[in-house]
Amino acid sequence: MTSPQARHPATATAPLPDTPLALLGGLTPRQFMRRHWQKKPLLIRQAMPGFAPLLDRAELFALAGQEGVESRAIVRQAGGDWRLSHGPLARKALPPFKQPAWTLLVQGVDLHVDAVHRLMQGFRFVPDARLDDLMISWASEGGGVGPHFDSYDVFLLQASGKRHWRIGRQKDLTLQEGVPLKILQHFEPEEEWVLEPGDMLYLPPKWAHDGVAVDGECMTYSVGFRAPQRGGLAGELALRLADEHEDEVLYRDPQQVATDQPAAVPAGLLDFARDGLQRLLADDQALGCALGEVLTEPKPKVWFEEPVEAWATGAVRLDRRTRMLYDERHIFINGEAFRAGGRDARLMRELADRRGLDAERVQRASAEAQALLADWHDAGWLHLDPEVGGD
Ligand code: SIN
Ligand code: CO
Repeated sequence: MTSPQARHPATATAPLPDTPLALLGGLTPRQFMRRHWQKKPLLIRQAMPGFAPLLDRAELFALAGQEGVESRAIVRQAGGDWRLSHGPLARKALPPFKQPAWTLLVQGVDLHVDAVHRLMQGFRFVPDARLDDLMISWASEGGGVGPHFDSYDVFLLQASGKRHWRIGRQKDLTLQEGVPLKILQHFEPEEEWVLEPGDMLYLPPKWAHDGVAVDGECMTYSVGFRAPQRGGLAGELALRLADEHEDEVLYRDPQQVATDQPAAVPAGLLDFARDGLQRLLADDQALGCALGEVLTEPKPKVWFEEPVEAWATGAVRLDRRTRMLYDERHIFINGEAFRAGGRDARLMRELADRRGLDAERVQRASAEAQALLADWHDAGWLHLDPEVGGD
């Protein structure tokens, strides 16, 4: 997909916490987070007045046909059965647009299209560590993915056409069996609305929902937020910490007595294992560092293009695929951690928060910080943006 390369400022300010936003139906981000985030749904009529799709149907389908783009097609067949196929999806492998009750879902469109990445910036009143991706669905009349629940927080923005949403605070999360999708067995909707272009619905995790295209075809944009799973995160961190932590101490048991229960695990081994794990956790900085690396790891199949232009000290903006975060002592970018303090740390934090720096800031950076920026430029993680002046 050739992404629209419209000019845009290098720096993107996140929404201010106390400014009422049309995007949130007149609530400030602070009010929204307190009242709704992870708690209860919010329907916002005309969250984005006059909103028009950032990709047309042909562009979306072209994206779904590409290697390295995650896409799915879901077709509801005449007998009511569901058929699921995974991308890349060639247009000719899909039903005609006029055939009712089918849908195409393209995941991570923000990684491929600058304008979509920019749309997501409006949701940065939520920490970047939680932001996952923007999925676009196209559905023919009657199309949808069936009643289900997600483990993600999601903003469902109606981009074109109309969608009938039904939602419920479902207790019974039993899924239908023998279906290639996660579909609820007993969906009990409590509220329903028809969303038109520019309308948006926020849903916390585990709320059951079902959205069906009505009055023709429709497109919906889902801004999704990831929530790490405790066990999975712990496993990933333990692996990283163990890799970093050189510990080749061998278990010793000079006091072992002769045993008549040779299959029993010696108690000393359990203590040894516990001690090993505790040592991994003893260094809080190393834990923070591993967490930042995990959180900024690029998604599978993401690659960066080397720049055609040579590095020159000037304004920069992060590539749309770059993940950048920081903690008190480190800067994390695309799975790598750098220690930073003082003025350089402030500069790098600004780069992460605003996803760009103006020329003056870059020129005043230390030689070390400039060298890092040059490396990141050469890796395709950030780009020169000569049209940007000061703030
Ligand atoms: C869709 O856009 O069809 C599905 C979005 C969702 O239900 O999460
Ligand atoms: Co959903």
